[in-house]
Amino acid sequence: MRSAILNVMANAALKAARGLIRDFGEVEQLQVSVKGPGEFVSTADLKAERILRAELTRARPGYALLLEESGATAGPDQRHRWIVDPLDGTTNFLHGIPHFSISIALERDGEIVAGVVYEPTRDEMYAAEKGFGAYLNDRRLRVSARRQLGEAVIGTGMPFGVRADQPGYVDSLASMMSATSGVRRMGSAALDLAYVAAGRYDGFWEFGLAPWDIAAGILLVREAGGYVSDMAGGHEMMTTGDVLAANDHLHLPLAALIREALRGGRVTRRV
Ligand code: IPD
Ligand code: CA
Ligand code: CA
Repeated sequence: MRSAILNVMANAALKAARGLIRDFGEVEQLQVSVKGPGEFVSTADLKAERILRAELTRARPGYALLLEESGATAGPDQRHRWIVDPLDGTTNFLHGIPHFSISIALERDGEIVAGVVYEPTRDEMYAAEKGFGAYLNDRRLRVSARRQLGEAVIGTGMPFGVRADQPGYVDSLASMMSATSGVRRMGSAALDLAYVAAGRYDGFWEFGLAPWDIAAGILLVREAGGYVSDMAGGHEMMTTGDVLAANDHLHLPLAALIREALRGGRVTRRV
């Protein structure tokens, strides 16, 4: 049984996902040549965002919004804010790779209290409410119990384009590659965090993410018993965009590994 607020969020995600799945089918069939795939995908993205805005606003009219595509809207309710990424994993979507998600978080008094990440192609609904645990569909989630770094599989996001020269990233990647049993870059940060919550990944790190990429995922990891911090070990993930998530055993060694890597290289970043 989901709470009323999680139902609102999950139903909004399901409704927006129907359009995304249809549009993804067209990308796969390469039927998008009229305007070009880039424009087609951004239209799909905007359509999903419009549905999410309409559904969330209909259910809770006064809440403020922070939407990736249309930005921030204040509401008469000063305490609540929706934080939404209508399509996380745009590059995958554009290339016909079936790994993308919708992420919806609810913030109350500056704290994330509910989060949903939905993966349409696998029909996997991750949902968490503060104090009530994290779920994948109807199954309660728990982060992995692995204690050995050498056995751990760690997710990441690699900076690209203008962010490609992110100081220290390549050094942190090199350290992770030699210390763990493998690094994965799957292309949706919201799902990366959901995978940590589900115990599929033993950890995840990425620099420079946006609030809508991580707001719901952070709560999922915490409610699944995991630990999330920024790279300095603090809790400024939403402002720095830097995220390290793992189970309790691995968080400390992973944080140390990244800190060392950043110190050793072209570091300009606060550690
Ligand atoms: C991106 C994905 C990706 C991460 C990027 C994000 P988008 O979001 O989460 O995994 O590495 O930093 O921008 O653009 O697909 O919504
Ligand atoms: Ca995103
Ligand atoms: Ca997006």
